[in-house]
Amino acid sequence: MSERYLITTPIYYVNDLPHIGHIYTTVMADIFARYHRMKGEQVVFLTGTDEHGQKIERSAKAKGVAPIELANEVVRRYETLWKDLEISNDDFIRTTEPRHEAAVAEIIRRIQAAGDIYKGEYTGWYCAGCEAFYVETQLVEGRCPDQGHPVELLSEPSYFFRLSAYRDKLLDWYRDNPGCIQPKSRYNEVVRFVEGGLRDLSISRTSITWGVPFPGDPDHVVYVWLDALTNYISALGFGSDDDTRFREFWPADIHLVGKDILRFHCVYWPAFLMSAGLALPKTIFGHGWWLRDEAKMSKSAGNVVRPDALLKKLGPDPLRYFLAREMTFGADSSFSDEAFLTRYNAELANKLGNTVSRTIAMTHRFAGGRIPAPQASGPIAEAAAIAFTSSIEAMDSLAPQKALDAIWKFLEVLNGFIQERAPWTLAKGGAPERQLLEETLGTCLEGLRIVAMLIAPFMPGIASKISSHLATGLPDVLPEPSELWGGVQVGAPLPPAEPLFPRIDINAYLKESATDDGPAGKPASSPVPPEDQTPKEISIDEFARTRLVVGTVREAELVPKSKKLLRLMVDLGEESPRQIVAGMATKYAPEDLVGRQVVVVANLKPVTLMGVESRGMVLAASEDGEPFILAPDGPVSPGTGVR
Ligand code: MSP
Repeated sequence: MSERYLITTPIYYVNDLPHIGHIYTTVMADIFARYHRMKGEQVVFLTGTDEHGQKIERSAKAKGVAPIELANEVVRRYETLWKDLEISNDDFIRTTEPRHEAAVAEIIRRIQAAGDIYKGEYTGWYCAGCEAFYVETQLVEGRCPDQGHPVELLSEPSYFFRLSAYRDKLLDWYRDNPGCIQPKSRYNEVVRFVEGGLRDLSISRTSITWGVPFPGDPDHVVYVWLDALTNYISALGFGSDDDTRFREFWPADIHLVGKDILRFHCVYWPAFLMSAGLALPKTIFGHGWWLRDEAKMSKSAGNVVRPDALLKKLGPDPLRYFLAREMTFGADSSFSDEAFLTRYNAELANKLGNTVSRTIAMTHRFAGGRIPAPQASGPIAEAAAIAFTSSIEAMDSLAPQKALDAIWKFLEVLNGFIQERAPWTLAKGGAPERQLLEETLGTCLEGLRIVAMLIAPFMPGIASKISSHLATGLPDVLPEPSELWGGVQVGAPLPPAEPLFPRIDINAYLKESATDDGPAGKPASSPVPPEDQTPKEISIDEFARTRLVVGTVREAELVPKSKKLLRLMVDLGEESPRQIVAGMATKYAPEDLVGRQVVVVANLKPVTLMGVESRGMVLAASEDGEPFILAPDGPVSPGTGVR
């Protein structure tokens, strides 16, 4: 019988559309769910929506709709978003579903039977933003201490849960299960909080009506956090006729939550479960916040990044990669479009995309387009084994960013191997060199097959694209380490290489974002620097950073579908000519340029123009938009410096 793994996300409030912070929890849960499936485990991955409570009741009222209409609309958005992000959840639980309400009634019945509920009067402060109760001394400048939301004074009849009676039992649980709250800093935070003593908790409301009716007392609705936390078992069938999944999968292996909702998950939830005689979750992991301008991204702060435009432009994989790579799991991190695009170009387009397309292209050029046999063993196979075991260790210790580190280190090894073996030089040699060439390409393709397998939980789309390029397909289950190397289909034909991650011109992208609601849907007012009209003075050292050289145009042609752009192959005295895109077609015919000398900015960051990568810029004077090529006064060797 294979092992079982239950992973959950918090269920999301339906008062607003999802932003990067919400997406993060679900993407990380999806990455772990996919990883555990690849370990051959039976996985249940749950997510859903938290639809009751004062916050939703008020939001719906402000919008002039019934709460359920608001919920239906936002749920529709969540479902589309999860599909667009390739989230592989096994269920989506809504707290307005009858199966959920049945589970809430059942857990309350059990808590009541344990003698832990009594009726009283709640007088104190309430924060509708957090849906949380506070006593006067907890408030900070008259606001909620956790998020600074406004609070209001309540005085209403209420049922109470004897939370105070669970202080010692909770402390015992924390002590006996040091891994139950992670990371360690959050564990310590929770233990300190509980050591300070617990007050009984109000678990019903009478001043709102949008909630699960309190069993046996229809004047009350169940407090929204008791209602919401129960989703983790209602989705498994607890309290319903068929509770097989509950019996098989509970307790959860991991509840993934943001650090702002730790108290509810690490104090209230285990106490409810203890009272109801149910098993406690194995781990509650509190991840950090995505910040924007140092503040938590949240609707109330008005500083959210929404993912729609990014997803539309680049698909789900780059965003999934960035979220997992940028944030140390557990710590806070800032979201910026610049950081996203920089990682995209450097790590996805360059390191991953280029290695794949370059290796495939060389296999076509030098090895007849069929996969040659890899080395049977050696340093590359060893480096692959290290990447494999380190990334598994990292995933098992909840450090996904370290798993990515290990995989990208291996990509560097593969790139170093290509540079060192130089297939383009081997191709000019005799039979022994040709054999070495084939072995080099086969080894790289095998390495890339392993990379695809390891990145599959993070970027399922790209992983299966790479695998199908390599004619293998992704395995359902990770192999044993001893079976890792050598799975590539020797002799299989390779399809032509296609770019996996077209490079992005960051400046152009950010400029575009300032006018079209942004790559990440950020507000149009975002501070993108205005175009600088008169460049400020620079020192000679700054000027010296620009590498200007003379080149000779060897080939020229129009970029397909463009009236202005020419694709040039310019000899700069390097190993092979450089591809440069120049906006000169309105003035120069391609055939007029072949053989001409030009001056090139040789250390410009590559950009992609109309789908063609440009690795430099040809200098021209520009009068009224008409280009005039600059050239040396007489012929010089390609690569000669200009100063
Ligand atoms: N409905 C409750 C959860 C109930 S679970 C039984 C809730 N919903 S929420 O929609 O406000 O937040 C859901 C999750 O998103 C929380 O884990 C929260 O921490 C996370 N995030 C919301 N904003 C965030 C950031 N800016 N950064 C990272 N995650 C944050 O709380």
